[in-house]
Amino acid sequence: MIELIDIHKSFEGKQVLKGVSLSLGDGETIVILGRSGCGKSVLLKIILRLLKQDQGSILIDGSDTTRYREEQMMPVRKRMGMLFQGAALFDSFNVGENVAYALREHTKLSEEQIGAKVAECLEFVELSGTGRLMPSELSGGMKKRVALARAMALDPVYMFYDEPTTGLDPLTSRKINQLIRKLQTERNVSSIVVTHEIANAFQVADRFVVIKDGEILMAGSAAEIKGSKLKFVQDFIKGGIISDGGQ
Ligand SMILES: Nc1ncnc2c1ncn2[C@@H]1O[C@H](COP(=O)(O)OP(=O)(O)OP(=O)(O)O)[C@@H](O)[C@H]1O
Ligand SMILES: [Mg+2]
Repeated sequence: MIELIDIHKSFEGKQVLKGVSLSLGDGETIVILGRSGCGKSVLLKIILRLLKQDQGSILIDGSDTTRYREEQMMPVRKRMGMLFQGAALFDSFNVGENVAYALREHTKLSEEQIGAKVAECLEFVELSGTGRLMPSELSGGMKKRVALARAMALDPVYMFYDEPTTGLDPLTSRKINQLIRKLQTERNVSSIVVTHEIANAFQVADRFVVIKDGEILMAGSAAEIKGSKLKFVQDFIKGGIISDGGQ
């Protein structure tokens, strides 16, 4: 279980997160919805401790990681898989090498065992046999699936998805959403998905958290979101996407 308590974060005097508290239960998928620039990616990076919050604490399985030194954080981070915004594959590595990366860095598995694990992860994302392709040879949807295979290589307990479907067509998005669901149902992975695409959010979420102006505007089930009287929530349900007009 992950608990965020009163997380604050500013950059150069500009407050991005103004006291965000939320919890992620075992095997649960929560979707964080909010406009572009509202701090969704920052929040994920704070959980992974790629960024440090100014105030507030993060409890992971009951331990306050806020006080952890970098070397104490490593085993915690190995239990977490992150699908970064834009997939972020290593362009000079082929697909197999991308998926094998964390296994080579963080385990003592033999090359044979690594090969078997890479094949298992590629099969999970339905990309068996693509190990020798280079990222430049893949479509956007395939890149996301390779990034997912890479993120799941260490058998994470927690997965974080940053805009997993942005820029993909509806059918390809559906495929990614099915994979997110499959990790949850087959491996009991607990997940946080951040997105500004409401239609995709409904396909994966057990619970929604809406962020506005650095604070949680509302949290609830799909029915509660759909029934919300809040104009901000209604506007983006109608619009299908949360837009600030700038995109
Ligand atoms: N490392 C950083 N240094 C300075 N400012 C940053 C940094 N990271 C993020 N910010 C700022 O924090 C705010 C929130 O950024 P963030 O990337 O979390 O937005 P987001 O909600 O993920 O948006 P999007 O939906 O477009 O991805 C933005 O104003 C951004 O410019
Ligand atoms: Mg972002």
